[in-house]
Parts: sequence; structure tokens; C-alpha cells
Amino acid sequence: MCGIIGYVGYDQATPLLLDGLKKLEYRGYDSAGIAVYDGNLIKIVKAKGRLKSLCDKLSAISLEGHLGIGHTRWATHGKPSEKNSHPIASASKNFAVVHNGIIENYLCLKENLIKKGINFESETDSEVVAQLLDLYYDGDVLNTVIKVINIIEGSYALGIICKNEPETLVAVKKSSPLIVGVGKNENFIASDATAIVSRTKNIIRLKDEEIAIVNKDNIKFYDKNKNLISKDVFHIDWDVSVAEKSGYEHFMLKEIMEQPKAIMDTIKPRIKDGKIFFDGISLSKEKLGNINKICILACGSAYHVGYVAKYIFEKMLRKTVEIDVASEFRYMNPIVDKNTMVIAISQSGETADTLAAIREAKKLGAQALSIVNVVGSSIANESDSVIYTWAGPEIAVATTKAYSTQLSVIYMLAIYMADKLSKVSYEQYNSYIKDLMKIPSEIEKILSGHNLIKTLAKKFYNCKNVFFIGRNTDYAVSLEGSLKLKEISYIHSEAYPAGELKHGTISLIEDGTLVVALATNDLLYEKMISNIKEVKARGATVLTLTSQKHKDIESVSDFNIYVPDISDIMVPSLSVVPLQLFSYYIAYFKNCDIDKPRNLAKSVTVE
Ligand code: F6R
Repeated sequence: MCGIIGYVGYDQATPLLLDGLKKLEYRGYDSAGIAVYDGNLIKIVKAKGRLKSLCDKLSAISLEGHLGIGHTRWATHGKPSEKNSHPIASASKNFAVVHNGIIENYLCLKENLIKKGINFESETDSEVVAQLLDLYYDGDVLNTVIKVINIIEGSYALGIICKNEPETLVAVKKSSPLIVGVGKNENFIASDATAIVSRTKNIIRLKDEEIAIVNKDNIKFYDKNKNLISKDVFHIDWDVSVAEKSGYEHFMLKEIMEQPKAIMDTIKPRIKDGKIFFDGISLSKEKLGNINKICILACGSAYHVGYVAKYIFEKMLRKTVEIDVASEFRYMNPIVDKNTMVIAISQSGETADTLAAIREAKKLGAQALSIVNVVGSSIANESDSVIYTWAGPEIAVATTKAYSTQLSVIYMLAIYMADKLSKVSYEQYNSYIKDLMKIPSEIEKILSGHNLIKTLAKKFYNCKNVFFIGRNTDYAVSLEGSLKLKEISYIHSEAYPAGELKHGTISLIEDGTLVVALATNDLLYEKMISNIKEVKARGATVLTLTSQKHKDIESVSDFNIYVPDISDIMVPSLSVVPLQLFSYYIAYFKNCDIDKPRNLAKSVTVE
């Protein structure tokens, strides 16, 4: 949601904090600020708007010091403004705090603090943390932080500095990610590793209610009973280049282009001698046989992957699959028990609703398997087993390569489980593996034709309404195509099961309305042709997306995009790519801020 960086070390803090914030800006971009201890006072500089406003402000100020914290905000409590941006100082100016998450009991805490005569400067929930630190400070910052986290409720990742302890950076978290970066004569805290990877690749992930006391040459970890704990250092194996555009105009385009590699990195290590293996996961025939329902939990695009999975699992496994938006599942008194297989899908591994949904499912006795991109993230930690996608860090707010790698894990799981349940023949298994390995090179072919899609986007970027229609997995992919378009180009669009349109929504089709019709499914191809004719008869302009073998579609459509022929279950991996490119170029021609669409932020760690 928001981004946190903190530094203590031999170097000047300000440039390092700003550099870290640049890498974190995708997490929140409505205001930003830094606090630096200058040897005398904690000085805070903040600005509303993009990070550039803060950098401009700082270019006219000298802010020197070796200890500091920084924040880039995505507003939840209190509108975007300089006053509400972080770092937030306590009344005595002894503490400065940056916070991600939501302090749920802040109103009652704030009321009590006001009664004690403490003035609040912002409308944020976070300010109660700064004021409580002041109130409970007893000369020992660790004691004080422990007292405060015993009082606050909700989710938090906190970076704290204290004027009286000018060589110490404090970090503590609950249900919101925070890491410590281990350097040489310098150490860091950050909400994610992209912020610090240019300085160190050695990180330590904090668990809930663990406290890090970070000095320039040592780091100590405590639990909330003040017991010293030891933590493992994790070495990051990716490079700072992932947080850079490497010549592309936008991270989104770079990440679309990275999909073949990301998918290959995800599938290849799990296929040995033509067979699928998942490290640390054993799903025996007996275990799978006892499963009465598969329940998929996710949000947004990850939910759309789940939608594709529902069609594939039901077709291949003949088991009931329920797919739930995690924010609904958690409050719907779900029907889940020990024989339900819960699969959570999440790029960040930190999405608050998905995490809460897993907890709910586990409480009811289910085993949770998660498909996650960030190693050691909360969802990964709380699941019974994890299959990691190896997409690498995703910076653009709109997901592309994470979606594609999640989908490739779904295929592998489906084939793996179908094999265990003897639902797939030897020949069919081998043919699936062959197709799976083919996906990256087939995507390369689609990517090499991106100029055609750019030309189509140029024709349509002024559209006001777009409908995406499809049947079966084509409908599931339509959901993603439609979301991509609206989130980055702000064009209203809806995805509809093609057969459902005539039950009401077709009344919205008028002369020139763009309908993107997905017709890759062989069995339903003729049905789609009828649906295309229906919308054409009402004046729609139809852009079809189908497989190369269906060239005859040109007789009913106005414009066409083709993807290479591949098995029905895997075609979503191909058909989603032109839709990503189409949305990207539409947003590009509309001059939208593609990597940071309005009102959105990557990783929704609040409810
Ligand atoms: C859309 C998008 C979001 C995420 C959703 C879940 O492009 O990125 O819809 O898919 O917020 O996020 P994760 O996968 O991190 O749980």
C-alpha cells in the first residue's frame, strides 16, 4: 500500500532515502516525505503529490545526517495532503514515525490522548503511534515500542526514529510487510527489497510483532516479551535492474515482455524427466481422493487466474471448484472443512483480504496451499504449503507477468493432480507437458507482433465503453482483459459471458460500440460466431481474438488478433497477452500514467 524506507550508516541518509522511495513509488504516490536526524534535531520534509514534488523541495534545502526514515503514501485515513503525509512527528518532536497499515482502534486512542492535552496535527490513524511513543517514553526505545504495540490494534509496519537515540532505527510489523537490509557499516529497513537492493542483497524478514533495533553495525531482534531472537539472513538472487525500466518506456511494457522468461523460470525447475514435481508438496492419490471441494481465494487479477483455474480443474479433475473473492469469503460464513482444498493466489503474498480468507478457511479445518510470488511473505508463511511463481519483482501496478506465472502454476497443478487421480492418460499427460513447455516461445511470437496491436489500439483509444465477451476460459480471460483496460486507461469496460449478454446488457450496444470477442475454445467456437453476429446486428464494431486455425472468423469480425494454436486448457496463457498489450497501448495513446494509475497502489495490505 504505502512504501517505507529507513537508513542508518556511514553515508548521507537523504539521497539514499530518496533513491529508495523512487523504487517504492509504485506502492503509493499521493504524497511522500523523509525525516533525518541532523545531529541536533529530527527534521522532516514532506510534499503532496508525486515523489518529484518532494525531490524539488529538497533540492533547495540541505538535510544532512546519517539516520532517517522515508515514506510514500497511498491515503486511507485522511486525504492526500502535506499534513497527512508521513513521517509524522510526536508532539515533543522526540519521535518521527512512518506507518503502513491501519490502526483500527485509533479513534478511541486519539480521544484519550486529546483528553490528556495532546494536540493532533493530522487526520491520520498513524499519528496515534507517534503520540503514544511520546507518552510512554521511559528512556528506552525498545520498552516504549513494546508498550505501544500492546495498545494498538490493526495492521502496521512501522519505522521509528527517536532524537534521544540518534544512532538507532526501530522497525516493527504486524500484518504488513517489513524487512531489514543488512549492509556493511550501514543497515536499512524497507517495506520491500526493491528499495534497498542497490545497496544490499542480504535481507531479514520480520514476522508479526517482532522488533528490530537497527544500528549501523549491529541489528538485534526481540519478541514482544523482550526476548532476544535470532533470525536468518535471506540472500536475494535478483538484481537492481528489475527495479529499473531497462530502456522500456514503462515497467508494464517491460514486464509484459518478460513473460516468456518468467513462465520458463516458473515451470522448468519443476519438470524433471517429463514429470511434474513440486518441492515440499505431497498430494497423494488418497489425499486428493478425499477432497470434496477445491476453494480458490484471491483478489483482482489473481482472482481472474482462479476463474481460469475453475474451468480447468473442473474439466480435468471432475471436482467441484468454488472461486471466491477473498474480501467476500471472509465474511460469508463459508462452507469449508478438512476435506476442502483451499488454494490462495497472490502476487505480493501480503493482500490483507486474501490473508484473512486463508485464516478463516484454516480455522474451519481446511489445508491451505498458496501460489505466491514473494518468498517469505505473510500468505506464504501462513499457508500449509506454497508454490512460488518465479516472476521476479513486479513494479507496474497493473499485473502482467505475475498473472501469467500464476496461470502456469495452475496448469501444472491441474496436470499433476489429474495424473495422481488417474484422470489423464499417459499420452495426454505427455502432450500437456509438451504444450506447457511451448508456452514461452508461443508468447514470444505474440510479443513480436506487438506493433499490430499498437495499430489497433490507436484506432480505439477514444472509445468510451468496451465489452469483452467469451465463453468458458475465454470468459475468464475476458475478465482480465477488461480489468487491464479500465485500470490503466480509465475506459469503462465490462466482461460478459457471451451467452449472457442478450439477457439485458446487449441494450447497451449501439453503433460503433467496441466488442472484443474471444473465441479460442474449439468446442464453443460456433456459439461464439452466433454471439458475434448478435452484437454486430446491433451496430457493434467487433475485434476478435482467436487461434490461427480459425481464420474464417474474418467473415464476421471487423478486426482480428490471432494467437498460435495450442491445447484448449493452455490457450488463456496466450490470449491474455494481446489483451495486456491492447490495454497498454490504449493507455499509452491516451497519455495515461500507465505504471501508476490513479487511485491504485500495488499490494493492498489494508482491508
Ligand atoms: C490488477 C492487480 C490487482 C491484484 C490484486 C491482488 O492489475 O494487480 O487486481 O491482482 O490486488 O494482488 P495480489 O496478487 O498481490 O494478492
